[in-house]
Amino acid sequence: MKHWIAVWLGLALILGGPVQASAQTAPLGAWVFEPTQSFPQFTKMVVERRHGSLSGVITSQWYGDLPMLSLRIDHDRLIFKIYNGNPKLTPHNLTARIQGRRLVLTGRVWDDDVRAMAHPATPSDLAALRFLTSPLPPPRLVADNGLARTPPMGWSSWNGFGQEINDQTVRQIADALVATGLRDAGYVYVNIDDGWQGARDAKGVLQPNAKFPDMKALADYVHARGLKLGIYSSPGPKSCAGFPGSYGHVEQDARTWAAWGVDYLKYDLCSGEAFYHTPQTVQAAYQEMGEALQATGRPILYSLCEYGRFDVGSWGRKVGGNLWRTTGDINDNYASMAKIGFDQNGAPHNGGPGGWNDPDMLEVGNGGMSLEEYRTHMSLWALMAAPLLLGDDIRKVQPDILTLLSNRDVIVIDQDRLGRQGLPLRRLGDIEIWTRPLADGALAVGVFNRSAEAKTVTVDWADLGLKRPRALRDVWRAVDLDPKQDRFVREIPAHGVVLLRLGAGVS
Ligand code: GLA
Repeated sequence: MKHWIAVWLGLALILGGPVQASAQTAPLGAWVFEPTQSFPQFTKMVVERRHGSLSGVITSQWYGDLPMLSLRIDHDRLIFKIYNGNPKLTPHNLTARIQGRRLVLTGRVWDDDVRAMAHPATPSDLAALRFLTSPLPPPRLVADNGLARTPPMGWSSWNGFGQEINDQTVRQIADALVATGLRDAGYVYVNIDDGWQGARDAKGVLQPNAKFPDMKALADYVHARGLKLGIYSSPGPKSCAGFPGSYGHVEQDARTWAAWGVDYLKYDLCSGEAFYHTPQTVQAAYQEMGEALQATGRPILYSLCEYGRFDVGSWGRKVGGNLWRTTGDINDNYASMAKIGFDQNGAPHNGGPGGWNDPDMLEVGNGGMSLEEYRTHMSLWALMAAPLLLGDDIRKVQPDILTLLSNRDVIVIDQDRLGRQGLPLRRLGDIEIWTRPLADGALAVGVFNRSAEAKTVTVDWADLGLKRPRALRDVWRAVDLDPKQDRFVREIPAHGVVLLRLGAGVS
């Protein structure tokens, strides 16, 4: 009997017809999902049993064709998992069963509860929903674009605005960067992160959504203020927030941005992780866009965002990258910032002129940390030669935050032309001492207190193997200290920092 059911199901599939399963039968066959916007936007599912073994493929607008893993029948249900390429996620069970004449799919994908309805598919449904795959280029070295000789500085919409970003806000931010003096302090890139994308037109050209009526005009506005415009996309079909990505349209999108006058691209793996989850494919996907940007002839700074996977620092430059994220997303709290800043910023030797480790954008001014903690954030980023991308609403920046963000001595450390990434010299419990050699022979020294209580710290130059400086500057207090002392003693507040600049030479 079982044998005959399998033969019948097999025949139905081979003939391409829908399988009319009864309420007691697990939903084998071909199904088309009813359109839904909910993640990950499943479109179709085909399950077949051949020679007694069950296999299936479920297709999603985010992830393309995914094999149905650990697929089994449990009474009237199909149970399976999908792997979306993210090594940090544990795949959950998805369950498909028949209800009336429809299929109901329930379960969890990533952090989202999924409930999707499907009906039997015809061959033409399946053909119409075929997911077109896109080939990757063979490995090639992308030439240095000559940009980012020092870590990029600017502003990005994501940390402060998320998807709630529009043309008017970006213009106002550009104005505010000028009015506050932040542009003149070096913050020149105005980067629109996720949430600007609309639909593709009949020729496949990606259009902005209604919140960005005219990208070219916006670029002109930003350029007229001595600033540069950045934009965001993904190598996958969807950006992280679910907007269209560049999958299958890489060269076309690069040309579109160049025509608008875009100067910076953040390319965020997002749904691309389902397609590219080996070192070779991720690298090839980033190379493809690196080549496409260069082919436009416009200098476009290229930011890789794939959360530090596959030792990105060792190949980021080869694919044309000027910076590469080394971590997951920063959040506006001390624990998140400290984890990334103290413990996670990639392999330091990879960073340098033209290509930088990127521990993510600044949260300074967003309200989730104390002023002292924000000072730690800035100090660490400057010592690490990290890109400085403001993440707050500069239109409403408070005076103390503005002072912090514009501190010239700190920016000078970050932007030092030697481009050497600072390192922890000593970690003693909650106290960390970081140093960064600078081009003029000086040494930037950060003394951090990671504890939740104030601590008195003594830094004995000799004990640390440091030379007694000719000059000694307390960067945040903006005062020169007596360089003749053998040691430096200071009470450092909870989660606080003292940032020093030790002038070159021994006295
Ligand atoms: C990812 C990135 C973030 C931001 C969002 C946008 O999470 O890591 O920096 O770009 O996507 O959706």
